[in-house]
Order: sequence, then structure tokens, then C-alpha cells
Amino acid sequence: MTETLALHGGAPVRPSPLNPRGERFGDEELRLLEEVIRSQRLNVNSGTKVHEFERRWAEYLGVRHAVMVTSGTAAIHVALGALKLEPGSEVITAPITDFGTIAPILQQLCVPVFADLDPDTLCLDPADVERRITPRTRAIIPVHLAGNACHMDAILAIARRHRLAVVEDCAQSYNARFAGRPVGTFGDLGCFSLNQYKHIACGDGGIVVTDDDELAVRAQLFSDKAWPRDPGDPSRRDHLFVAPNYRVTELQGAVALAQLAKLDGVCARRTATGDALTAGLDGIPGVRPLRPYPGGVCTYWFYPFLVAPAIRAEFVRALVAEGIPASAGYVAKPIYLFDVLREKQTFGTSHFPFGYAPFRPPEGQGEIDYREGLCPVTEEVIIPGMVRLPLNEFWSVDDARDAARAIAKVARHFAATPPTAAAVPPAPAVRALP
Ligand SMILES: Cc1ncc(COP(=O)(O)O)c(C=O)c1O
Repeated sequence: MTETLALHGGAPVRPSPLNPRGERFGDEELRLLEEVIRSQRLNVNSGTKVHEFERRWAEYLGVRHAVMVTSGTAAIHVALGALKLEPGSEVITAPITDFGTIAPILQQLCVPVFADLDPDTLCLDPADVERRITPRTRAIIPVHLAGNACHMDAILAIARRHRLAVVEDCAQSYNARFAGRPVGTFGDLGCFSLNQYKHIACGDGGIVVTDDDELAVRAQLFSDKAWPRDPGDPSRRDHLFVAPNYRVTELQGAVALAQLAKLDGVCARRTATGDALTAGLDGIPGVRPLRPYPGGVCTYWFYPFLVAPAIRAEFVRALVAEGIPASAGYVAKPIYLFDVLREKQTFGTSHFPFGYAPFRPPEGQGEIDYREGLCPVTEEVIIPGMVRLPLNEFWSVDDARDAARAIAKVARHFAATPPTAAAVPPAPAVRALP
């Protein structure tokens, strides 16, 4: 016996829709902000907050160096700049991510190459990463998606075999762990975002971390117009190579410092509710929740699960009627199908770095072509099948259990009466997440 769906006149699981919210910023942020304003020192080089945040973040994560910059996108740009990649180098990354992972590759005149994802972890499939390696590959950017951690042992083993650098994109996965170790501590460099929507935020901001002293020096320089700012000789002004200005202000540093004190709690609550939700889906037909690798920890930036693409739209409608805030997926298409890559819209009308000697692929290797079919699992299973719940640290374990009950109710209904694909209306528009 299946219960009557709220969509069909049954009683909803949550008569008043689940919508837990709370204040993420408060007195702690205000106190440190006031200190900055009263100090009259708003710039990183005259104040103390940004440097204190960098010190504390490095200590928190257990790495030697951290550099705070203006965004997660800037962090990845700084990491690639620090690596000194030659123009035309190929960088393998994930097809589901924010464009902030991709723009820096192009800005460093490198070529993004996409490997397919694993549908259980939503992270790069290591075997497919290895298949995409060419003589021009120089780096891998694993994207730890939705709070989960990629299989870093497998990715590091591939990187070592092929002498590739690894830059971890941890923007969505603060405190996620692979084999007990936090993301951001595996690769040559790790990158985090502090934008409004992340586990911790300062409006906009980013962090680059590394254990490598030389990369740290170069990252610091790259974030500040390659200006060494020699403390022994302040009059010396030199610029060592082409680099942007990604300096943050002390105001961002102050907010980030206050937020750092909250990170353990935010992540612990997200993990507890997300894992409780997954436990409630055990054995439910036709529902494939995200699974961390064994020994891993997911900190759920959002809560994704997969259903059959043909029923996704109706599944979302049924969940919303049950009082559960669900929406269809995260991105509407793989990033390589966005106009910027499909049409190679880069610098002026040049299409640079695509197709330009001496960056052209060697004879016999075609020019890279971003087209449908490049990553079939992502295109056919993950993107059209993903349902997203906006889980956050204000959800209780009871909220998670209600969400699981509603998903189970809807899934059982579809298992008993599968709709024909033709009867299913198109999926509601995907709401953009930054
Ligand atoms: C996976 C991922 N990488 C990079 C970024 C870019 O971060 P930012 O928005 O701080 O530039 C984001 C932001 O949403 C992201 O989710």
C-alpha cells in the first residue's frame, strides 16, 4: 500500500513547509568589524585581521601556508598562477562546477579538459581522468562537489604517475574528509570560497593553501601584482611577473575570522542532518543518495540525490507538495556546453588559447571540441536525474527525517505507478546557485 501523495489530495508530511533559517552573522562579526573601523586601517598591508585569519586558517587545516584573496575564483587563479603553467597546458577538471573553476584556467591561457563524474559521489571518476591525459596535460583540479570529498588517493596516484600538479577546489566542501583527512590538504594547492552562500562567508572572498614554501611565495606574489613588498627595503618597488590584484580588505578579514570560529558547528550540523537523511533513504526504491567514500565525511553544501530523469520533474513537484523544499538539480548542463566554451569566447575574437600555434595539439590529436556526449554519466544520469534539497546548518535531524519520509513516500508511489515519460511535464527551471 502506498500513501496518497499530497499532490493527489493526501496529507502532506509537513503541513507547514520545511524552511529552517537563522542568522549566520552577528555580534562576533560586528565586534571585529568595529575594531577594524576604529583602527583606521582597512588595507591588508596596514592591518592585522587578514593575516590573523590566514594564520588561523592554516593552523585549523593543518597546512603551512594560507593566502586570503577576493573570491574562490581568484583562489584558483592564484593557484594556477603559482604553478607557472605554460600556455596551452591542459588542465583536467569536472563538468559540474561553478564557472569559477574554469575561468582561471582560460585566464592562464590553458585549456580545460573534462572528465566524467561518479554518480554515487558526484566527484571525478579517477579512471576517466586517466583516460583524458595527453602529453599536454599538466594539472588536475578535482572539484569536491556539494560537501563531498573526491577519491584523493586515486587522483594523487594518477598525478604522480603522469607528473601532474593537483589543485583541489574545496569551495563547496569545507571540512569534508577523504580517508579521515580534510580536503585541501592533499593537492599541491587547495582553494576555498568565502562567498555569501558557502559554509562560512565574508560576502566574497577566497583562500589558497599549500604546504610548499615556494608555491606559497609565488601564490602570495600572484595575488598582489607580483609585488614583493620587501619589508627590509620598503622603498624598493618592483613587479616580478604579470599578476592581478586579488587583495582583500581588513573588513573581509574580520568577518572571516569571526566565521572561522563557527565552522566546526556549521559542518557538524550539516553532516549530522545529511547523514540522517541518507540513513532514512536506505532501501527506498529508485532513489540514489550521494555516498561519501568509505571513511569519508560529507558536509553537505546542499543535499543531492538522483532519480530516473523521466520522473524527476514530477518527483520534485510531489516533494514540494509534501512540504519539502526540493528543486531540479544544480546546473542545467555540463559546463563545457556553456557558450563560453562551446564557442570558445575568450579574448577579443581570437579564441585564444584554442587553435594557436605553438599551442596547437600535436599532429593526429584533434583540436579540443566541447560538445554533447563528452561526459555521458554526467549528461544522462547526474544532471537530468538530480534533485536538490537546500539543506543547511539550521535543519534539525527531525527535519532531515521528515525529508527522508517524504522522499520515501514519493519514491514508493512512483515504484508502484511509474508514469510514462510522455505524461511527465518538463522539469521546472533550475534555479541558479552561485
Ligand atoms: C565548486 C566551486 N568552485 C569555485 C567557485 C567560485 O567561487 P567564488 O564564487 O567565490 O568565486 C564556486 C562558487 O560557487 C564553486 O561552487
